Amino acid sequence: MVTRMIDLRSDTVTKPNQAMRAAMANAEVDDDVLGYDPTAFRLETEMARIMGKEAGLFVPSGTMGNLISVLVHCNVRGSEVILGDNSHIHIYENGGISTIGGVHPRTVKNNKDGTMDIDLIEAAIRDPRFEICYPTTRLICLENTHANSGGRCLPVDYIDKVGELAKKHGLKLHIDGARIFHASEALGVPVDRLVRVADSVSVCLSKGLGAPVGTVIVGSKVFIAKARILRKTLGGGMRQVGVLCAAALVAVQENVKKLEDDHKKAKTLAEGLNKIKGLKVDVASVETNIIYCDISESANITAPKLCKNLEEHGILLMSDSSSRIRFVLHYQISESDVHYALSCIQRAVTGVPSENGAK
Ligand SMILES: Cc1ncc(COP(=O)(O)O)c(C=O)c1O
Repeated sequence: MVTRMIDLRSDTVTKPNQAMRAAMANAEVDDDVLGYDPTAFRLETEMARIMGKEAGLFVPSGTMGNLISVLVHCNVRGSEVILGDNSHIHIYENGGISTIGGVHPRTVKNNKDGTMDIDLIEAAIRDPRFEICYPTTRLICLENTHANSGGRCLPVDYIDKVGELAKKHGLKLHIDGARIFHASEALGVPVDRLVRVADSVSVCLSKGLGAPVGTVIVGSKVFIAKARILRKTLGGGMRQVGVLCAAALVAVQENVKKLEDDHKKAKTLAEGLNKIKGLKVDVASVETNIIYCDISESANITAPKLCKNLEEHGILLMSDSSSRIRFVLHYQISESDVHYALSCIQRAVTGVPSENGAK
């Protein structure tokens, strides 16, 4: 029987802790669709303050946060958004910006570090003289940290340059900041500085910060007023939503400071995996809480098989392909969990127990 569960599938898997549950039970609430929920108001105001923007809006998910943001900026059908070909919005959000919003995606290649070359972004901006043929570029989207690149951080000078480019061409800049606090911690740059040039940011509370539900989008008062209407249109207006916002407030107050530890645990895990014969991790590229690990053919085990095998030991992982596994750290994984997982993985891949054994 499995007695120990170590869930490394994602940072979305955290369970609300006692402090969050107590805050939920005691939350002051009212009808938020009518704009009267005091706890939602407190969370939105606090997030806007932390991010250095005028206003905030609680939405049910990161996907809805990105969708609303893109649709507010691209409020005319036939608008075009420039975004990474490996971005979450482009790959994992059901193409909602086009199927729901009539917004055309213009992709630019994401580099290994999650950036897009600035000259390629500029080249993708449509020439308004040919509007008879072209959609109209209105928005650029960045993602920080960049999930599919393994949680890489976009540095502040890069973001500033993209912001300058957007301004030069009269475009808006949205940042999918699902893990923006991770980037801030890893780069040592205050989070408001990191997003200074952005017109909107979508910040997930239910990923590494550990809240059970929700994202806050931030931007100008005008942007948020329009976003509030769109949220209702999309069915994202919720009544006594303060019960969720109360948990999110605890997450912001308690868990941002734990990200540094999550990043250290990720490094330890990455280094340990890379020492196991048959596994390969680019340790230098592990900047935050996400690790991609490749399995070589000589290991004689596929990624799905390894995941299945480890599940029997209570270690949950997701395979990205037949030879690649993703590991994601969060505050409910301890240092000892990391060492235990490493010893189980070593045994599963090589058949040889690790020297340390499980700690
Ligand atoms: C970078 C990024 N953006 C947006 C999202 C979407 O968030 P949600 O799952 O809350 O819709 C995710 C989800 O993992 C993500 O990793």
